[in-house]
Amino acid sequence: AAIKKYQFDVQVKNVSRLCHAKSIVTVNGRFPGPTIYVREGDRVVVNVTNHAQYNMSIHWHGLKQYRNGWADGPAYITQCPIQTGSSYTYDFNVTGQRGTLWWHAHILWLRATVYGAIVIMPKQGTPFPFPQPHREAEIILGEWWNVDVEEFVKKANNLGLAPNTSDAHTINGKPGPLFPCSEKHTFVMEVEQGKTYLLRIINAALNDELFFAIAGHNLTVVEVDAVYTKPFTTQAILIAPGQTTNVLVQAAQASGRYFMATRPFMDAPVPIDNKAATGIFQYRGIPNTVLPSLPQLPVSNDTSFALSYGKKLKSLNTPNFPANVPLKVDRKLFYTIGFGKESCPTCLNGTRFVASLNNISFEMPQVGLLQAHYFNLKGVFKTDFPDSPQTPFNYTGAPLTANLGTSTGTRLSKIAFNSTVELVLQDTNLLTVETHPFHLHGYNFFVVGTGIGNFDPAKDPAKYNLVDPVERNTVGVPTGGWTAIRFRADNPGVWFMHCHLELHTGWGLKTAFVVEDGPGSDQSVLPVPKDLPPC
Ligand code: C2O
Repeated sequence: AAIKKYQFDVQVKNVSRLCHAKSIVTVNGRFPGPTIYVREGDRVVVNVTNHAQYNMSIHWHGLKQYRNGWADGPAYITQCPIQTGSSYTYDFNVTGQRGTLWWHAHILWLRATVYGAIVIMPKQGTPFPFPQPHREAEIILGEWWNVDVEEFVKKANNLGLAPNTSDAHTINGKPGPLFPCSEKHTFVMEVEQGKTYLLRIINAALNDELFFAIAGHNLTVVEVDAVYTKPFTTQAILIAPGQTTNVLVQAAQASGRYFMATRPFMDAPVPIDNKAATGIFQYRGIPNTVLPSLPQLPVSNDTSFALSYGKKLKSLNTPNFPANVPLKVDRKLFYTIGFGKESCPTCLNGTRFVASLNNISFEMPQVGLLQAHYFNLKGVFKTDFPDSPQTPFNYTGAPLTANLGTSTGTRLSKIAFNSTVELVLQDTNLLTVETHPFHLHGYNFFVVGTGIGNFDPAKDPAKYNLVDPVERNTVGVPTGGWTAIRFRADNPGVWFMHCHLELHTGWGLKTAFVVEDGPGSDQSVLPVPKDLPPC
């Protein structure tokens, strides 16, 4: 194993897109930021120095950070932010994981521009469990706003309104030639006929689940969220914010230039500018003047594509890569996802949006929850988060618009070390109609079941896949439906769980688990790093 060292200088940089120039926050002046390349088993040491005017923290999305929440990064959950002019060193081991993950800012909406890929190669001498690709490429999908993101979010919050949607989606920071002034902001990938390529696709968008396809080429999915899957071939993939998907693509056409394209999946036909962000898949030796053709992407409200795509995702589940699904459950949790409006006298319409789990909208603390837990500080959080809703109702029945009395609080759930947990996330028919990509820090989990309508504890568990369910760190909870996940709570610490739509996280759709220390000397949270930023 090696030590991989990186220096991340958080700094402002002028960038222009869509005929607009603005300054954005970056790492090392790059957009997207630098890729971290490691091998399974390596230790990664990233010194982050903040030269920008915003407080900063960086999250290594999907890395398990065993006993080491100090390196996880979500602001006010595992650390206080790195202030302007200060540094913090994230020091962690990459154990038992290989594939594609990513890193991003985890404070305010700064991950709009502060993000990059993490590529974890298998151990030396260990091949992929699929044909060796000729070459690999990272494809990071994102969003671009012409206005200053932090400013409009602040303004929208003050007025109690939903912030603007982005002006374009991007592929590796570039919207592609269908947008104004974007000819030169087009990602081009050169390929050779007959060769196979591994694309490491990351959805870094703030608020949109995305389809992705390449005209004239099939995609073979081989891994999601740094876990190998049973390979399957598809024309398009669906990927939620936070998720990663590795696909193999064969450059099997005779020649030509083909558009790769991405466009959002919404659960309702919302009037959005449906222009696809595009990049070019270009066969070597083809002149640039040949016009590419657009791939067929599913329509924006194609829920049946979404459902059938989700069903195809399964763990590889081979002797080398077994799916260790917990068969017996120690702790059953049932969380409703709710939306409503609460009164806000200073807001434009006297109300603002509020989102909740079990009718509790999460309130961010002033100090890091992990420190509060580790040092046993009183009064920072409570561990009385209810295991199920206090007032059950017909979650997906007639459209409901009331907020059912949402309360706010920093309430967490305490989980015994090494217990097996089943969590059913139930979407409700309150105000919004969107799939919610739920992300759990510190763990992967198995997606054992999903369905439309109300979860039925008497019938649905019998249909669970306990053999080869997909294992991941972020999962979409369908509109008006539910998703059941299982994991073993073997990683002590405080672990954030939230909707990876920044909009919803901001409105309170989040909570955290306190996983207690185990009895062994190597089963407790590691000592605090000396340079952990002070609050
Ligand atoms: Cu990718 Cu808590 O985030």
